[in-house]
Amino acid sequence: MTKLTRTQDKNIQVGIDVGSSKFCCAIAEINPSNQNVKLLGIGSSSSTGIKKGSIIHRDKIIEEMEKAVTDAEIMADIKVNRAWLTISGEHVRGINTQGAIAIQKSGQSPSATDQEIQIEDVYKVLELAKAISFPVDRNILHTLPQEYIIDTMTGIKDPVGMSGRRLEGRVHLVTVATSSASNFINCAEELGISVDGLVFQGLASSIATIDKDEKELGVAVVDIGAGTTDIVVYFEGGVRHTGVIPIGADSITNDIAVMLQVGKNEAEEIKLKYASAKASMASPELEFELPVKNGGISRKISEHELSRYVEARMTEILQLISREISRADIHQKLTYGLVFTGGGAQLSNLAGLAEETLNIRARIGAPKRISGVVDVASTPHYAAAIGLIQWPVNIQDVQQVLSPFGGVTAKNVANQIYRWFKQFF
Ligand SMILES: Nc1ncnc2c1ncn2[C@@H]1O[C@H](COP(=O)(O)OP(=O)(O)OP(=O)(O)O)[C@@H](O)[C@H]1O
Ligand SMILES: [Mg+2]
Repeated sequence: MTKLTRTQDKNIQVGIDVGSSKFCCAIAEINPSNQNVKLLGIGSSSSTGIKKGSIIHRDKIIEEMEKAVTDAEIMADIKVNRAWLTISGEHVRGINTQGAIAIQKSGQSPSATDQEIQIEDVYKVLELAKAISFPVDRNILHTLPQEYIIDTMTGIKDPVGMSGRRLEGRVHLVTVATSSASNFINCAEELGISVDGLVFQGLASSIATIDKDEKELGVAVVDIGAGTTDIVVYFEGGVRHTGVIPIGADSITNDIAVMLQVGKNEAEEIKLKYASAKASMASPELEFELPVKNGGISRKISEHELSRYVEARMTEILQLISREISRADIHQKLTYGLVFTGGGAQLSNLAGLAEETLNIRARIGAPKRISGVVDVASTPHYAAAIGLIQWPVNIQDVQQVLSPFGGVTAKNVANQIYRWFKQFF
């Protein structure tokens, strides 16, 4: 066994992307003075114990997660003892809520004079926005502020220090099934890794792939994984909608297996080598041999023919994506359209097909804003893992600023939110 020389100190961030087809562990060093994220190591392993975000085989998860972590540890020469994890699946839901308070100094009536808003007021508003009833076994994972409203002034990002009589906060909450979240945490703990927090996979991917302008003018990040497609819609700087479609790029593999009568592994290989999301971009002349079944005759198919099946399935997935995005209740067009990421985004000509079918701008999003061994992690299927190691410096989530500090006074908590504000607006 390789002897690791360093243990994980406070500047080392670890992210484990828990996917339905792979685990990916990324280890990075954060420079405290400029917040630069330097990737030190990355490790992957196949994932066979998760189906569409839900655990189907716990022992396999522990074994496979360990392999990804060990590979990253060896590359970074650091022993991991804590990490952030991604979570996805149909149980992840997003909802927009709001909370409002009257701003009033003790002993004065709200109508006396306008009052200066303190950080504690913001804290109260956010707490009220979170106070909605959920079914048992459902918990808030993320509390993502969108905007504040003071009296009739809308679109305020940082209300502290401003004056008014009424403060309203609008937030996007992401909720998850508690049992699902705690089962994943238990798996990591079994490996001696304590969990810093869970991050919705689509949100982690968005951190790594888009910039401030896109968030401001409107964009939908679409992480096409093996079993699920995660969607996060940003507008005016905040998250407006999150959703999970329980269908991913593996559905294309399954179609190929059925249509061409080949095994799933063979179908996956064919997809990676020859498939195009747009049949018109694949040549009818370029043919490839299909695997011969015992005693069978050899068969050939053109890339064009194969891509017709792929295009049909991908068009269906795009329609589902479009329907999910329309739930965001944004009345303007998303200026930056769609950013596809995740392994499924690596299908050739995907952005072209999306632009054509949905009549919207589209691009492929690979992880950005990291240094270090970036060449080993520059493709879209690493987006969620890279987003996780960037998460602590980009934290947008009041819930996670608050929750690790159980037992502290409201004032301390309020100060934490204030630091968070200052960082992002
Ligand atoms: N070059 C490529 N062309 C087409 N599809 C690809 C390519 N590379 C990877 N994929 C597909 O991407 C999928 C895996 O993506 P990814 O690694 O993001 O999934 P995951 O994170 O494990 O799954 P999930 O997000 O659903 O939990 C597989 O279906 C794989 O076939
Ligand atoms: Mg994924």
